[in-house]
Amino acid sequence: MRTENEHTIYFKDYAPSPYRVLSVDLDFRIRPENTRVRALLTIEPHPDTAPGTPLVLDGDDLRLESIALDGAPMLAADYATDANGLTLVEPPHRRFVLETEVILQPQGNTKLMGLYRSSGTWCTQCEPEGFRRITYYLDRPDILATFKVTMRAPRDVAPVLLANGNLLEKGAADDGMHYAVWHDPFPKPSYLFALVAGDLGSIKDSFTTASGRAVDLAIYCEHGKEDQCHWAMDSLKRSMSWDERRFGREYDLDIFNIVAVSDFNFGAMENKGLNIFNDKLVFAQPESATDADYDNIERVIAHEYFHNWTGNRITCRDWFQLCLKEGLTVYRDQEFTSDERSRAVKRISDVVTLRSAQFPEDGGPLAHPARPDQYREINNFYTPTVYEKGAEIVRMLATLLGEAGFRKGMDLYFERHDGQATTIEAFLAAFAEANNVDLEHFKTWYLQAGTPKLTAEDSYDAERQSYTLTLSQETQPTPGQPTKQPLVIPLKFALIGPNGSPMNWSDVSGAEVRDDLIVLDAARAEVTFTGVSSRPVPSLLRGFSAPVVLETTAGMEDQLFLARHDDDPFGRWQALQDVGMALAIAAIQGTPWSEADVPALSAAMGDTLGSESLDDAFKALALQLPSEAQIARNIGKDVDPDRIHEVRAALTRAVFEPIALPLLQRYRALSSDAPYSPDAASTGRRALRNRAMGLLVASDAAGAAALAAQQYHDAKNMTDRLAALSASALAWTGEAPALLADFYERFGGNPLVLDKWLAVTASVPREGVIERIGSTLADPAFPKTNPNRLRALMGTFAMNNPTQFTRRDGAGFRFVADFVGEVDKINPQVAARVLTGFRIWPMLEQSRRKAAHSALSALQSKGALSRNTADILARMLAS
Ligand code: TRP
Ligand code: ZN
Repeated sequence: MRTENEHTIYFKDYAPSPYRVLSVDLDFRIRPENTRVRALLTIEPHPDTAPGTPLVLDGDDLRLESIALDGAPMLAADYATDANGLTLVEPPHRRFVLETEVILQPQGNTKLMGLYRSSGTWCTQCEPEGFRRITYYLDRPDILATFKVTMRAPRDVAPVLLANGNLLEKGAADDGMHYAVWHDPFPKPSYLFALVAGDLGSIKDSFTTASGRAVDLAIYCEHGKEDQCHWAMDSLKRSMSWDERRFGREYDLDIFNIVAVSDFNFGAMENKGLNIFNDKLVFAQPESATDADYDNIERVIAHEYFHNWTGNRITCRDWFQLCLKEGLTVYRDQEFTSDERSRAVKRISDVVTLRSAQFPEDGGPLAHPARPDQYREINNFYTPTVYEKGAEIVRMLATLLGEAGFRKGMDLYFERHDGQATTIEAFLAAFAEANNVDLEHFKTWYLQAGTPKLTAEDSYDAERQSYTLTLSQETQPTPGQPTKQPLVIPLKFALIGPNGSPMNWSDVSGAEVRDDLIVLDAARAEVTFTGVSSRPVPSLLRGFSAPVVLETTAGMEDQLFLARHDDDPFGRWQALQDVGMALAIAAIQGTPWSEADVPALSAAMGDTLGSESLDDAFKALALQLPSEAQIARNIGKDVDPDRIHEVRAALTRAVFEPIALPLLQRYRALSSDAPYSPDAASTGRRALRNRAMGLLVASDAAGAAALAAQQYHDAKNMTDRLAALSASALAWTGEAPALLADFYERFGGNPLVLDKWLAVTASVPREGVIERIGSTLADPAFPKTNPNRLRALMGTFAMNNPTQFTRRDGAGFRFVADFVGEVDKINPQVAARVLTGFRIWPMLEQSRRKAAHSALSALQSKGALSRNTADILARMLAS
C-alpha cells in the first residue's frame, strides 16, 4: 500500500543539483520502427560537491543501449538504472562527458509527453518532465545548457527537420535519409527542448525588430491547411511589435518557427525558437472557426511568444515557481489583447473566466496557493490558480505601483535576471527595489490559497457631511491551510453622486487612500471621507482591482443606479449581474420576486441594449444573467442544480420576454452582408446579434426557434452558425435535432469542427445526453487518443453540463468516473483533467454528494491509476 506522501515533493526541500550540465549534443536517428537518441552531456560537479557524490539522472520509459564516460564504455558496477532513471555511482570529480544511447518508441507514446507521433509527424512535448522520456538528464528547470541537435530521418516521410535555435547545416545521407544540424546559443532548461520531423507545408514571413534585425518567421502545418495559418502569422507579428513597444523586449534569434499538430495535451508550448501548437490554436477561416477561436489564436500566439522573455530568457528555479512565468505571461497576453481590442470587454471576459474556472478551484478540494508548497504530480498544477490568479496578482502589483512603477520593476527584473532560473522572491524584490517599497506582506497572495471575501458596509452622516466605508476581509480555510492571514487588497473605488458623476471629498482617514485606490492591508478598516456633500453610491472594486468576492449592503436601488450610471464599465456590468443574482437566489430560496424588481431589471437591460454610448461587445456581455455555475457558487452549499436550472430559465423569460421586440429589432439591425472580418467591432456586432437571438430563443419568444433555425441555415460564417445551433440545442427547440444532424453531416469530417458538435451535444441539459455521448464514445472510429476530441466531449460534459453530470441517481458521476479509469491508461493528463470536474461535489445537496462520493470511491478501488489521476482523486476524496 502506497502512503500518502510517498511521492510528495516539498518546496522547503529545494536544493541545487550537485552537478551541472554545460552543453548537450544530441543525435536523433528517426525511423518509422523506432528512434535512437545518442546524447553527449558535458557535466561538471558543483565546486561544493563532495567527491564521490552520485549523479542521479532522470529517465522515464527509456531503453539504454550503451553508456560511456569520456569515450570509454562504463562497467556495470559504475552505474544503475531503475524506473526513475540512471545513477552514476561515483562520477569523476572534474568535468567529463557522459555518452548514452537509448531507443524510443514514439509511435506507441499515447501520453503525448516526450517524443511522439501526431498524424505521422514526430514531435516533442517536454514541459514539465517530458525530456526524461527522450534521454537521461538532470530534468529540472535550474539546469541551463546550450543544445546542439543533429537529426536524421527518412527524407520521404520527414522532409522537414526542425529543432530549437539556428540551422547550422543540412544535407542528404545514405539510404534515403537526410539530416539537419541545429544549434541554440541560449542556455536553456530541458523543458524548452523541441524537435519536429515530418512532411509539412508552411507559410513564411519576416519581421524586422526595433534594432533592425530581420527574423525569419514560419508556421508549419499539415499540407493543404497553409491558407488557414495567416491569422496566426498576423497575430505573431503584432505580438512581436507590441512587446517592443510596451516592454522594450526584442526577439533574440534569427528564426521563429511555429508548428501546428493535431494531438496535443495543452494549448501550446513556448519551446525556444520552435513553438509547438495544438492546431485548433492555429487554424482559422471564417467557415470553420468562430470569433472565439480567432480571439484564442491571437491570445495564445501572443502568450507563447511573450514567454521568450518571461519564461525562456528568465526561467523558473523549480516547478513551485511555475506562476513566475505563467501568471506573468498571462498578465502580458491580457494586456496585449486589451491594447489591441477593447480593454473593458477584455477585463470583463477575464473576470468571467476567473470566476468560472479559478474561484471554484480555490473554494474546493483542489485549492492550492499560486505558488504551491508541495505536489505529487506537477502536471496537475497547470491550473487556473497558477495561470489566472497568478495574472491577477501581477495585475494588483501594477495597480499598486502604477504603470510607470510597474515598468521600472519589470525593467529591473529583466536586467538583473536575464539568463537565470529564478523565484517569486526575486521577482518581487525587483519591484520592491525599483520602487523603494516593501512587498513582504503583498507576497502572501502567492502563498495563501482561497478567495478572500471582502465585505463593505457604508454609512452617511448628512450633518457632518461625512461618509464611512467599513471594510473587512476573511478567507475560508483550504486544504492544508486552516488559518488565513489578511492580504493586501487594492480596492479601486469612486463615490458616485446623485447626478451620476464621481464626487469629491476634502479629507480621508482610516486607511491608505490614493486618488481612486484604497489599500486595505488589515482584517478590518474604517475609511472616513469628510466634505461629502450628499450620500454617495459607492462604486467598489472598479475594474475588478483584486481577485476577491465582494459583498456589499447595497440594495437593489443602488445596484440599478450603478447599472445605469457607473462610469466604470466593469462596475456597470457587475451591477447588472448583481441584480440578476439577487433575484435568482431569492427565487431559489423561495422568496418570490417583488412586483417591481423584475420589471426594473428588464428595463435596465432594455436601456443597456438601447444605449448609444456602450459598444456592442459590452452589451453582449451585459445582457445575460449569471450562469448556473455562478449561482451555485453564490449559494455555496446544499446545491440542487436542477432547481437552479429551472429558476434561471424562468428568470430569463421574465426579464427578457418583455424586451423581445427591441431584441428582435436589434437583431435585424445588426445583420450584415459585409465579408467576415475578425476585428473587434465586427466581432462585437456578431456577439450582440447572437446574444439577442440566444435570449429570444431562451425566453421562448414566439417565432424565435424558427429564427434560430433560419440563421443556422443562412449563416455565412461559423460564428453565426454555431451560435444558432447551440441556442437551439440548449433550449432543445423543435428544430434542434435536425440542426444537429445537419451540422454533423456537413462538418463531421473536419475534426476541429466536429469538436464543436461534440461540445454542443455534451452540454444539452436533458435526459438521454449520457446515452448519446456513450454511443459516440463507443464508436470504434472515435479517436480515444486525441485530447481535443476527448475534452470536447467529456471535458464539456463534466464541466459544462451541471444538471446531467450531477444527476441525483449518480449516472453522470459514474459515467465520468468510468471514462477517467479507462482513458487514464491511454493519456493520464487528459484523464486527470476531466476528473477535476468533480471539484464541485462537496457543495451539492446530500443525495448528489453521496452519489459523487460513491463514484469517486469506486474509481479509487479499481487501483492501478496513474500518478496524475491518483493525485487528483486523493485530494478530491480528502475533502
Ligand atoms: N507552458 C505552456 C504554456 O502555458 C503550457 C504547458 C505546460 C504545456 N505543460 C504542457 C503544453 C504540456 C503542452 C503540454 O504556454
Ligand atoms: Zn504559458
